[in-house]
Amino acid sequence: MSGNFQPKIVGFLCNWCCYAGDDLAEAPRFHHPPNLRAVRVMCSGRVDPTFVLEAFANGADGVLIGACHLGECHFQEGNYATVRRFPILQRLLRQFGIEDERVRLEWVSTAEGERFENVVADMTEKVKALGPVKCTV
Ligand code: FES
Repeated sequence: MSGNFQPKIVGFLCNWCCYAGDDLAEAPRFHHPPNLRAVRVMCSGRVDPTFVLEAFANGADGVLIGACHLGECHFQEGNYATVRRFPILQRLLRQFGIEDERVRLEWVSTAEGERFENVVADMTEKVKALGPVKCTV
C-alpha cells in the first residue's frame, strides 16, 4: 500500500521544548524525514482541536503534537489541558474516519533531539503504512 507515498505530517510543536528539539534535529548529527511540516506554537495547550481538523482537511496525513514533559510547561498546566483533550480529539477524528495512529501526542524536551528524530521517523513509517488519509473532514 505504501509504495512511493510520502506522508505529510504536520507537527504542532511547542516553542519551549519540541520546537527547539526540532532545531536540534536539524543539526548535522540528527536528521529526520522531510515529511514533517513544523508549526510553532507557544504551548501545546494552544493546539485547538480545530487546528488538527483543519490540518487534515488541508491534506495532512498525520498530525504530531509536541509538548513539554508534564510538570515542565511554561504555562503551568497547558500540557495537562492537552493530555485531557487528546482522547476527545482522537474520538472526534474517528468520526471522520481518521485512524488513531495518524495523530500523536509526544513529550520531548530540548535535550531530546535524537528522541524527537525517532518519534518523527516512527510516525512517518506508521502513517506511510496506512496510506493517504481518506477522511471526510
Ligand atoms: Fe510547552 Fe506548555 S509550554 S507544552
